[in-house]
Parts: sequence; C-alpha cells; structure tokens
Amino acid sequence: MTTETRKILVTSALPYANGSIHLGHLLEHIQTDIWTRFQKLRGHECYSVCADDAHGTPVMLKAAELGITPEEMVRRTQAEHQQDLADFLVSYDNYHNTHSEENKELCEMVYLRAKERGYIKQRTISQLFDPEKQMFLPDRFVKGTCPQCGAEDQNGDSCDSCGATYSPTELKNPKSVVSGAEPVLKDSEHYFFDLPQFEDMLQDWLKGSSVQAEIANKLQEWFEQGLQQWDISRDAPYFGFEIPGAPNKFFYVWVDAPVGYMASFKNFCASNNLDFDSFWNKDSDAELYHFIGKDITYFHCLFWPAMLEAAELRKPTGVNVHGFVTVNGAKMSKSKGTFIKARTYLDHLEPEYLRYYFASKLNDGVTDIDLNFEDFVQKNNADLVGKVVNIASRCAGFISKRFDGKLAANLPETGLLEEFQAASEGIAQSFEGRQYHKAIRDIMALADKANQYIDAQAPWVTIKDENLQEQTHQVCSLGINLFRILMTWLKPVLPVLAEKTEQFLNSELTWSGIQSPLLGHNINKFKALMQRIDAEKVEKMVEASKEDLQAKVTVDPDSPLAKDPIGETIEFADFAKVDLRVARIAKAEHVEGADKLLRFELDLGGETRQVFAGIKSAYQPEDLVGKMTVMVANLAPRKMRFGMSEGMVLAAGPGGQDLWILEPHEGAQPGMKVK
Ligand code: MSP
Ligand code: ZN
Repeated sequence: MTTETRKILVTSALPYANGSIHLGHLLEHIQTDIWTRFQKLRGHECYSVCADDAHGTPVMLKAAELGITPEEMVRRTQAEHQQDLADFLVSYDNYHNTHSEENKELCEMVYLRAKERGYIKQRTISQLFDPEKQMFLPDRFVKGTCPQCGAEDQNGDSCDSCGATYSPTELKNPKSVVSGAEPVLKDSEHYFFDLPQFEDMLQDWLKGSSVQAEIANKLQEWFEQGLQQWDISRDAPYFGFEIPGAPNKFFYVWVDAPVGYMASFKNFCASNNLDFDSFWNKDSDAELYHFIGKDITYFHCLFWPAMLEAAELRKPTGVNVHGFVTVNGAKMSKSKGTFIKARTYLDHLEPEYLRYYFASKLNDGVTDIDLNFEDFVQKNNADLVGKVVNIASRCAGFISKRFDGKLAANLPETGLLEEFQAASEGIAQSFEGRQYHKAIRDIMALADKANQYIDAQAPWVTIKDENLQEQTHQVCSLGINLFRILMTWLKPVLPVLAEKTEQFLNSELTWSGIQSPLLGHNINKFKALMQRIDAEKVEKMVEASKEDLQAKVTVDPDSPLAKDPIGETIEFADFAKVDLRVARIAKAEHVEGADKLLRFELDLGGETRQVFAGIKSAYQPEDLVGKMTVMVANLAPRKMRFGMSEGMVLAAGPGGQDLWILEPHEGAQPGMKVK
C-alpha cells in the first residue's frame, strides 16, 4: 500500500454541447471514473472534472436551427449530459461548461502570456466564405469534388474515396453546407500560435512517460512533416470568446476547450477552498491526467502542452488515450440500432452492467473496444451474478438464521484469505496502469477459487450435523470475508453493488480493510444484490435506438404518411447532391409496347436528354410539348428496355389521372437550377 498521499487531477474530454452522450462517450467517462474512484479508494487526494464544450460553429448553427440562443442550448444540453452521467454513476467532482467566466479569464491569461513571449503571429489568409450566410466556412462546412480523384461530394479537408487531404480552396465545385451557395474566397487577418518554437520541448515531453508508446510513435509523423503554425482565431459570427485586443476575432474552440479543464477545476476550487495554483503552477507537485479518445490526440499531445508551456504553466503528467467503441464488431450505426444513446441504454438496462463490461475489456492501449451483446449478457450474468454475488448468497443465509447474524471469531486456516490479501497489490497495480481487464481477470479467478472452496465444504450439508456447527460457521464467515475483498476491489467499477454490500456487511469497504478480516462482526440480512440480464432487454434497447432515428410525430392514421411512411432521413449533403434543373419538354411520344411510359426529349437550354417517364396515365404526349418540368439532371443514365434514360422527371400527385407538371412560366428557363 502506498503510504504517501498523491495530489491528482483527472479530466475526461469535454463532450460537445450539440448532441447527446452515447456509448462511445461512456467508454471514456467510465474509464476515467473507475480510475478516479480507485485513487480515492486508495486514499489519495484526487479530483476529477469535466465540462460541456460550448463553443464553435456546429453549436452555433444547431442553436440557430432550433431557434434558440447558443447559451440556452448549452444550458439544456449540459443539464442532459449531467443527468446521463450521474445515472451511469460517473461522478465528477465538478461539471462545468466552457462558456464561463472562469474560462474566459483563463483563456485571456494563457493567450496574453503567450503573446508577450512572442508565440503569437498574425497574417492575412484567404478562406472560403459563404456569401449568403455572410460567414467564413470551417472545412467541414464545405463540400465539393475531390481535386485528386474527382469523387463528388467530398469533405472540405479530405476525400473519403481516395484518402487525399487538401485545403478546402482546392476543392472543385465547392458548396457551402450551410446554404448550398458557392463559397467565395475572402481575405481575413488571422492569429497563429507558433507551434514550431516548441518542437524540442514537445519531443522531450513525449520522451517522458507521458503518453503511450504507440501514440508517441504516431506523433513522430507530425514532426517529420514539420510542425506548422496553428490558426487560433475565427471571424465573427462565431460562438466563443473574443480575443483581447482583436475586435470581431474569436478564439477557435480548440483553444478554449482544453483551457476549460482548468476553468472547471477553478470553479470547483472556489467553492471547496482549494488552492488552484498549486495544481497548475510550473513547479506543481500535483499529477495531471487527461483521458481522451484517439481522434483528439493531436490537440492534447502537441497544442495543449505547448500552450501550457507558453503560458508558463505545468504540463500534463499523462495523456491517456483510448480507442473507439464498436458494437458487435462494427462501427456504431444508426440504422442498425447500435448507435445507442446513454438515455436509451438506461431505459432498458442497469448502468453497472456496462461499467463492468467496459472494465473487463479496457487496457492501456488505443485499440478499439468491442461491445458484443452476447458476450455482454453472458459475462455479466456469469461473473457478477454467477460468481461474485453467488458467494454471498450461499453463505449469508446460514449466518443470519443459525449464527445470529454474527460472523465467526476465527476463520479456518485454508491459505485462501492470505492468497486474496497477497493478490491485492497486483490488482491495485492493474487499476493504476489502466489494465482494468487484467484486474477483472484476476478478481474473477479468485472468485472461482472462493466458489470451489464453498462447493468442497458444502455448508448446506455440514449445517445438518450437530458436531460441525463451528466449522460451518467458520466456512461461511470465510466465504463472506472473501466476498468482501472481491467487492472492495470491484468498488471503483460497481459503486452501487458496493454500496449494497456495505449495507449488507454493515461495514465500509476500504482498501486497507482487505488486510483485516471481519471477525465476530454483525452483518445484516442478505437481500438479492443484482439481477441477471435478460437478453430481451438488449434487443429492446436496439429497437428503441432505431426508433430514435424516426421523427417523433404522431401520424394521422388516415394520412398518406401512415400507409407510406417517410423513409430514412438523408443528410443535407445527400440532398445537395441532387441537381434539379428546369427542363423544357421538346418532344413527348408514346413508346411502342409500353403501358405507362412516355419518351421525352428534354431541353436543358444547351443540352438535350432522353428520359423515359411513367406518366402516360395523366397526359397525352402532345399536351406536354412546350411545357416545363423539373428534372434530376445528374442521375446516372440507366439502360431501360426501350433505350437509355438520362435523368428523371419530377411530377407530383397520387398517380393515375392526377399528375402535375409545370406550366411554362416567365421565370423558369431551361437549364435553370431549382432551389
Ligand atoms: N469537444 C471535443 C473535446 C474537447 S477536450 C478539450 C470532442 N468532443 S466529442 O464529444 O466529440 O468527444 C468527446 C470524447 O468522446 C473524445 O475523447 C472522443 O474521442 C470520445 N468519443 C466519441 N466517440 C467515441 C467512440 N465511438 N468511442 C470511444 N470514444 C469516442 O472531441
Ligand atoms: Zn479523392
């Protein structure tokens, strides 16, 4: 047992305030929470903080879409996040948000110190600007054709099709995702953080034991490419903090987000009489750990330590990177129902099952963690109900009914108690090193031994023998003591089960208590501690996650929507792919041997297309000539029985006689884009 008390501050990455917590986020919160609870259980002075990440363009746009202020959206989302986390037994000492007074002050302090010391540069850059929305467009808000391979509808910074990375200004046919308008280039003065000046410092920091070897290796690639100055400013409109001395320029969200760790802790210190500076000073003796997912390594292992250095603050002791959650071996998917929100899970299952399952899989690496539902049900039922709780339920009844609820004053000499006690430090080391899977494996191996012991002793047989009463008492008391040790180890993972155990044992579970068994001690009546998982509940959760997808509107049973429900939602980007054009019907004629089809020649004002359309029931072809229609102009040509169809005509109506096509209209010109 460590005798020295450590001062430790722990953080999880700050969830964005524009969406719900899902199982992916929970992996991280649970990993952090187990570690924090473990440190506290070991008697260290440990605090954990988190917050909502309030700023940035996505939050701003989402709030606008909902017709509320970003502040209001952050307030609502933060409340939802905090409730979800609390219900998963994730217990931060403080949960704040980055749109706070503390954060504003700290950001300004960090920035001004960096500026004073020559780490802030200014220069004018040219960026894509949405002329309709009057805003600069972040990379993700521009789509277009890949400059490398020509694949359409690619992101502003990278191509999903060929993997090329580029600047959004290199995209061909760029479009604003916000308005669909074609962005224009516009100059603006930006502020840069001079990352290259920190190369040596960062290399040294990475050589320490602050990050996993695989992460340090990965980061070497960035050094090889050469560190770049980091653009830390954004132009208005932007939901964020204005940069001091730079009107209408705002800190990029990734500047104030990590500072948000400090701000949340500062907020906590103020109401808990703690010395904030002693955790963040350059010569701080406190340890600082960030738990993050692999996707945000770059921000935490390059920019953040450099920002701290620039501001003459301490750097993280460790950045602990984890992999991504997959479900049943695949990426979480909305349509499969495996993109599961925290709340949907909680509507069907107990939080501790997920905590236990993740713990049984987590290690100190960055490989992805698979949540396999069959394994999830099996492992919880077999390990927790079948092994751990089973020990108590097999021994407790005899103690309360036959021995007055009192544990024996002596335990049988089996070596088993000593074996458990001796294993304790190794299990602690596994938790400390984030090898939770190993801790769980060792704990379950010992639970097996305890069960084997009870099987062999068969107290349910010996209890019937007058001469074996003392022996039975001792056997059951040992069983209860072994259960107590197992539950002490599991306390960081299963806080509710641990609390019920404390109630049952009439004693608090502490790490040091492992070395002193409960003897001659009164315990309470045993009540069922945990239910088995019913696999059906998992299925229901998956179904409900699919339903989450569908808009929650009640449909009039007589409406066409009830008979023919609206299909899966498409993203705006998908819709933006459809190129709708006004076309003049130059020619329309019957098709030999076809009941429904008409053959059209459509004039797009410079190009003529042949299209077959099934609207014969409503129109005589001769009535259509000269009229306008709307066509999908970029539909891939399809070979039909009667020839090639090079697009699709849109007409509205229930079919039969009633199908409508546009009358020629002054404003509609062939070839014109339909908006
Ligand atoms: N707001 C930033 C973090 C700022 S920290 C100063 C952010 N937010 S996030 O909501 O997108 O992600 C929060 C954390 O959840 C990140 O560590 C991210 O890696 C993690 N995860 C999000 N989806 C995940 C999975 N599917 N699996 C595991 N972790 C994942 O990034
Ligand atoms: Zn490409």
